[in-house]
Amino acid sequence: MSNYIKPGGTIGILGGGQLGRFLSLAASRLGYRTFIFCPDEKNPASQISDFHMYCSYEDKKALKKFSQNVDVVTFEFENVPVSSLEYLENYTTVRPKPNILEIAQNRTKEKKFFNQIGSKTTKWLPINSLKGLRVEIEKIGYPSILKTSRSGYDGKGQCVIRSKQDIVTSWNKLFKKETITQSESPLAILEKVVDFDCEISVIVSRDLSGNVFAFEPTENLHKKQILLKSVTPAKIPKKIKKEAINEAKKAAIEIDLIGIMALEMFVVKNKEILINEMAPRPHNSGHWTLDACSPDQFTQQIKCICGLMSNQPIRYSDATMINLLGNDIYKTKKYLNLENTNIYYYGKETSLPKRKMGHVTSIKPKK
Ligand SMILES: Nc1ncnc2c1ncn2[C@@H]1O[C@H](COP(=O)(O)OP(=O)(O)O)[C@@H](O)[C@H]1O
Ligand SMILES: [Mg+2]
Repeated sequence: MSNYIKPGGTIGILGGGQLGRFLSLAASRLGYRTFIFCPDEKNPASQISDFHMYCSYEDKKALKKFSQNVDVVTFEFENVPVSSLEYLENYTTVRPKPNILEIAQNRTKEKKFFNQIGSKTTKWLPINSLKGLRVEIEKIGYPSILKTSRSGYDGKGQCVIRSKQDIVTSWNKLFKKETITQSESPLAILEKVVDFDCEISVIVSRDLSGNVFAFEPTENLHKKQILLKSVTPAKIPKKIKKEAINEAKKAAIEIDLIGIMALEMFVVKNKEILINEMAPRPHNSGHWTLDACSPDQFTQQIKCICGLMSNQPIRYSDATMINLLGNDIYKTKKYLNLENTNIYYYGKETSLPKRKMGHVTSIKPKK
C-alpha cells in the first residue's frame, strides 16, 4: 500500500457508469490501467477498461480478489456500501476515504457537516415519522421539500409539500409502511424550498501533498430535478464566484479529501450562497471541463488518487454542456457538424426516459 501509484499500475473503480468510462480514459492517458467492479455486465465503463468483474458490491470474496489486483480503489457510484469500502481498506488503498462517502450518502450527515464547518445550508430538520413531519413542517413552513436520507439522486426520493393537504400523500409517496426500517435514523429531512437566482456547482480537488484546487463555478439548469445544462462561466458576481470556490476548498480540507468532489450550491439574491449537497467523485456538472479545461475533472481525480502532483486547472474557453437524456440520443444529427461542438455517447444499449445517454459540449473563445 503505497501513497504513490506508478504509471503502469491499476486503478480499481467501483461503478460502471459514464463517470467510470471517463475516468478510465483519463487513467489510460496517464499510463494507468483500470479495473471496473460493478454488478451489471452491460455498462459504459468496462467497454473501455482493461479489467472487469461483474459482482455485487456486497460480495466480500469478489471484493477481496478485486483488491488483490489493483493498486488503489476509487468509486464513481455513490451508493456503494460504505462497509464494502472499509473492507477493501484491509487490502488496498481507498481514495477518497470511506467516511467521506458515508457523509455524502446521508443527507442528514451531509447537512450537519456543512453546518459544523460554518457553511450555510437551507433551513432543514430531521424527520422520523409522519407525526414528526406534521410538527416540523410548522417550523420550516411551506413550500418545503421532504427528502429521504439515503439513496436519492436525480430528484428521486424527494417530494415538494406545498400545503397541509400534501403532507400525507408526500409521506406515503416516499415511505411505504413495509419499507420503513428503523435502522435508518432519521428517515428523511425536511428542507425549506429556496427561492434561488441560480444553481451553481464547484468541483474541487485535493492531492496527497494537500494542494487544493478548484474549477470555476458552472451554472446548472435542471428540468424536473435532473441536470439539463451547465454553462461556464456562471453569470454570477465576482464576489460570489470567489466565495463559492472558498466554500468548496474549505469543505475539501475539513473533510480530508483525496481526490475530487463536487459541491452543489444555491445562489440567493445574488449575495448569499447556500450549500445544497456534495458528491465525492467526478460530477455531471463537470463534463464541460473535458473540452474547456486542462486538466479536466477526470484527469485531476486520477492524479490525486495516484499521488501525482496536481495543478490549478486552467479554463481555455467558455462552455455549454447539454445532457442527452433518453431518446435525445437519437436526435444528435444536428450537433455533428456544428463547429466547436463535441458529442459524447456513453455506449448504453437501452434508452430509458431521463436516462443519461450522452452529452454535448459547445465551446467558444473566452470572453
Ligand atoms: N431546498 C430546495 N429548494 C429549491 N430547490 C431544490 C431544493 N432542494 C432541491 N432542489 C432542486 O432539486 C434538484 C435536485 O435536488 P438535490 O438535493 O440536488 O438532490 P439529487 O440531485 O440528489 O436528486 C436541485 O438541483 C434543485 O434544482
Ligand atoms: Mg443534486
